[in-house]
Amino acid sequence: MRIDILTVLPGLLKGPFDESIVKRGIDKGLVEVHVHNLRDWSNNKHNKVDDAPFGTAAGMVLAMQPLHDAITDLQSQRDYDEVIFLTPDGETLAQPRVNQLSLSGNLMLICGHYKGIDQRLRDHVITLELSIGDYVLSGGELAAAVLTDALVRLLPGVIGDETSALSDSFQDGLLAPPVYTRPAVYNGWKVPDVLLSGNHAAIDAWQEEQALARTKARRPDLLEGRDL
Ligand code: ADE
Repeated sequence: MRIDILTVLPGLLKGPFDESIVKRGIDKGLVEVHVHNLRDWSNNKHNKVDDAPFGTAAGMVLAMQPLHDAITDLQSQRDYDEVIFLTPDGETLAQPRVNQLSLSGNLMLICGHYKGIDQRLRDHVITLELSIGDYVLSGGELAAAVLTDALVRLLPGVIGDETSALSDSFQDGLLAPPVYTRPAVYNGWKVPDVLLSGNHAAIDAWQEEQALARTKARRPDLLEGRDL
């Protein structure tokens, strides 16, 4: 997979890809993440990348020319499965969408800033708009980092234990069950007996029951329409 990210603040995306799972995916050659500075496409003599909106709206929008040129330039080099705009009014990101996008070859992520981007780009060039939650960030960079992380950890070979991404919360529509580690008794707090029993069928049944109970208690909305 290749992910191209267009941003006016590339520095914001230095850290997230230099550590942990995304770094491992990059180092193993399973994903390429390219962060591009929109200013590199600006024809303005001061490399300006913002512009005033028509009408009476306050604030600035990302300038049309550098953004459109950057997208067109990247698209001339390869086909993209999706050109994604990160925006609080997009589809709220959830695991099924991440799973689907993880099968892509090339993705382009556009980080908005100021008051957003020209609606004509959203109408004609952007193929998918995603939000990472009902709150407003200063720009799309952190959302792009979240999406990239969620995608990369699903790529085969990135996480050592192939089954571990499948047992994440949400992967089967349920929250994950609680986990425990050694020692079996710590500070007087005991690990549930069943986990120490060595009985795999009983452990599986307990974990399923716990996942369901936790989902019912914390996220009953996930169970709506399910026949359980
Ligand atoms: N840009 C600003 N806020 C955002 C959000 N919640 N999700 C995605 N992109 C954003």
